[in-house]
Order: sequence, then structure tokens, then C-alpha cells
Amino acid sequence: MNKVIMITGANAGIGKETARQLGKINTTEKIYLACRNLEKAKVAQKELEELTGRKVFEIIIMDVSQADSVKKAIAKLDTPVDALIMNAGGLGGKTPEKATQDGVTTITASNLLGHVVLVDELIKNDKLKNIALYASSEVARGVKKMGMEQYQLKKASVDEFTSLFDGSAFGSKFDPVLAYSGVKLSGTLWMSSMARKYPNIKFISVSPGGTRGTDGFNDMPFLQRIMYKYVGMPIIMPLLGLSHSLESGAKRFVQSINNEKLESGVFYASKKNVLTGPLVDQSPYYNGFSNPVYQDNANEAIHRFIN
Ligand SMILES: NC(=O)c1ccc[n+]([C@@H]2O[C@H](COP(=O)([O-])OP(=O)(O)OC[C@H]3O[C@@H](n4cnc5c(N)ncnc54)[C@H](OP(=O)(O)O)[C@@H]3O)[C@@H](O)[C@H]2O)c1
Repeated sequence: MNKVIMITGANAGIGKETARQLGKINTTEKIYLACRNLEKAKVAQKELEELTGRKVFEIIIMDVSQADSVKKAIAKLDTPVDALIMNAGGLGGKTPEKATQDGVTTITASNLLGHVVLVDELIKNDKLKNIALYASSEVARGVKKMGMEQYQLKKASVDEFTSLFDGSAFGSKFDPVLAYSGVKLSGTLWMSSMARKYPNIKFISVSPGGTRGTDGFNDMPFLQRIMYKYVGMPIIMPLLGLSHSLESGAKRFVQSINNEKLESGVFYASKKNVLTGPLVDQSPYYNGFSNPVYQDNANEAIHRFIN
């Protein structure tokens, strides 16, 4: 059983709903809400206590776009974590292309770099016991029906991943949705590399699927935001099998951390052409997912930015 769980980005959207569902399970003893903003975290903690009737939620302040912030948070952590859910991230805010102090784009930092530091620090301090789950996305293999292309790797060399992470691959035309695809793809490959390196811990990537009712589209330009958040997601996409409720999105994470049938190193998401329904192994849709060279090169490239 996973009694102690840490969720990054737990104050909103899928992360908060995952915390609610896990808090309802009576064997859950502690849920670390790893958030970057104390005020938002306190509001979420109070709401979660009211919704579940349990006081198992502990705030840990961590900005996953900054390596130092993650390291400081883990140095203070008192109880080892049975399950880690790396949920924080998304389209990278209003300036996804901006370089952080670690030298990567903001979108890379918030979806990937901080989580890599988090896993490294937990393992180094023997504080990760059972399972690490990375919130990936179907966009890592492309979602044609939504016009979301997959980021195309050419050689998948360490240098190629490095140029994706520092943004130089895009030249002067940064494309946030393509960058998002590339970063989620890289995060998914990194998890599979870790699965081979640490066979005693389970590493899986899981997409929550097309999930309504989150803050994920808030930073999009006005018209796109209206289109996706208020028209596409709630009205059009459910009809096409492209979106489901917040509860269903979070349930994928809750069930996956306790599902012994899921294999370490595998990426689980929706079947081809949909963003809802059962979780399936994604490697038949893109064989790069199971390529150990791609996996290790992504892992090596992100570590070029970590001291
Ligand atoms: N919704 C979907 O359809 C969908 C589909 C596939 C994958 N996903 C993935 O699922 C995850 C959750 O998405 P969501 O839709 O629930 O998004 P959301 O509602 O925007 O929530 C994102 C959470 O991550 C936090 N966060 C962002 N950057 C952070 C940072 N640097 N440090 C700490 N926390 C940070 C946010 O905190 P603040 O409140 O402080 O900003 C918020 O709590 C993301 O990784 C997303 O890429 C979502």
C-alpha cells in the first residue's frame, strides 16, 4: 500500500482532485501537497480537509521550475514517500520560451527539470520507496484530431534533446504546443531510462487524458482559451471521445499507482485517436518510447542542466 504520497502541483486541477481521491482512501496516512504558492496551497489544504473529513494533507513548498527550490524542499522532508505523482506542469505559463536560471526554457523547467531533480534527490536520500508516476500526455505521440503534432526527433541524440530543452531547436519561432509535445515525450523517455537504472522502484508515465475543469488553458491567448476551455473541452470534445471529467482524469493516477499489472518503464495513455477510455501501452503507436538509446539520451541531456 502507498501510505505516504507526494503530489506536485496539488493546489489545482488534476493534482488537487488526485489528492482528494487519495485522501478518501482510509489507508492513506499522509499526502504532501507540493506547491509553489503558500497561499494557494493553504486554500487547497483547507478545501481538501473539508471534502474528505481527514487531516492528512501537509504542504511542502516547491517550485518545480527551479532546481534549488526542489533541493531545499527535499532536504526538509521528514517522512519517506511511498508514491510520487509528478503532476505539476502544463503549457509553461505566459512565457514558456523564457530561460530559467538553470538554462532551460520555462516549459521544460516546470514539466521536466524540477521533477528530474526531485526524483534524484529522493533516491539519493533513500526517500522514494515504491513508485514514481510522471504526468505525461497523448501529445507526446501527437493528437491528430486536435491538430497537435508530435515533436519530431531526428537522431534523438543527446545534443538534439539539449537543443529542445534550451529552446535553441526552435530558432526565433518558438511553438509552445510543439515544445510541450517534445518535453512530455522527453519526460516519458526519462522515466523509462530510470526504470532500467533502478529496478527496485517502479517508474511509469500516465496521461490523465483530455480532462475538463482544470486551469491548464488559462495562459493561452484569449481566443484559443475561449475555444478550448469553454467550447472545445466541455461541448465538442466529449462527443469525439476527446475529453472526460476532472474526476476521471485524476482517477487514472489514483488507480495507476496501485495497479500491480502496470509495468515499470511503460507509458500508459488513451487508445489511438481518443483521449478518454482505458489506458493502454503507447509503444505500439510510436516505437521511440521503447528505444533504450532515446531513453538514456533524454536522461543524459536533461542532466546537462543539473549540478
Ligand atoms: N488537463 C488535461 O487535459 C491534460 C492532458 C494531458 C496531460 N495533462 C498534464 O496533467 C498535469 C496537470 O494538468 P492540469 O490540467 O490539472 O493543470 P492545471 O489545472 O493548470 O494545474 C497545474 C498545477 O501545476 C502547478 N504548477 C505549474 N507549474 C509549477 C511549478 N513550476 N512549480 C510547482 N507547481 C507548478 C500549478 O500551480 P499554480 O496554481 O501555482 O500555477 C497547478 O497546481 C500537467 O502536467 C499537464 O501537462 C493535462
